Amino acid sequence: LHPGTPARDLSGRRIVITAGGTREPLDPVRFLGNRSSGKQGVRLAEAATARGASVVLIAANLEIPVPAGIETRLVGTALELQSAVTDAAAGADAVIMAAAVADYRPATVRGDKIKKDDEGDTLTLELVRNPDILAGLAAAKTTGQLVIGFAAETEADPDRLLSLGREKLARKGCDYLVLNRVGWTEGFAAERNEVRILDSAGVIVAEAAGTKMSVAGRILDVVVAGLG
Ligand code: CTP
Ligand code: CA
Repeated sequence: LHPGTPARDLSGRRIVITAGGTREPLDPVRFLGNRSSGKQGVRLAEAATARGASVVLIAANLEIPVPAGIETRLVGTALELQSAVTDAAAGADAVIMAAAVADYRPATVRGDKIKKDDEGDTLTLELVRNPDILAGLAAAKTTGQLVIGFAAETEADPDRLLSLGREKLARKGCDYLVLNRVGWTEGFAAERNEVRILDSAGVIVAEAAGTKMSVAGRILDVVVAGLG
């Protein structure tokens, strides 16, 4: 190995990574979205590729470019992401759900632009729950496959944050949960990230703080160990 050459410890592995944030259309010109930039997911795809994995990146409205050579499938909405990731998960060794998926979508998508004069001084939107894609992947996973989720929480207290993570992990049934705090300045568009990684029993198996590339490396170390 040359100095700086990453270990090829994911060679022969197929890894599916979702990144970015879904956008749920309201009408032809508007959507409900979130502040996910896609940075953490794209860095994961880049790092996994460098370590020899064959990566499929499911990209939802990324704010950053995808490095050349990564197989990418573009999606817009949560339902599109669900169908793309479910498709790609067949035969994959690991699925990493780094994307921020909209929890709700507008119950109806108007064919024409919503006009103020038709609505008056207030506008009420009816939203319906999107499916929990991560829980679905975890329930449907094949033997040996790892399903990794993220948890974005605004809770500032580290102990309460951990409890929220453990509750989320139990609801999702995934193999690992990457817990990170998000806020007006932390998480989404930032260059750095700080995470704790929980295994399926809720035990902290890794902690990482640094650039999103270094955090990606730590997450992939856990994936390598989990794949055995
Ligand atoms: N996720 C998903 N499908 C959804 C919502 C979230 O697959 N409809 C995934 C995300 O990609 C992430 C994990 O679930 O990997 C946790 O997302 P998060 O928004 O933190 O949790 P929720 O279960 O949506 O709970 P809440 O937003 O109410 O905290
Ligand atoms: Ca959510």
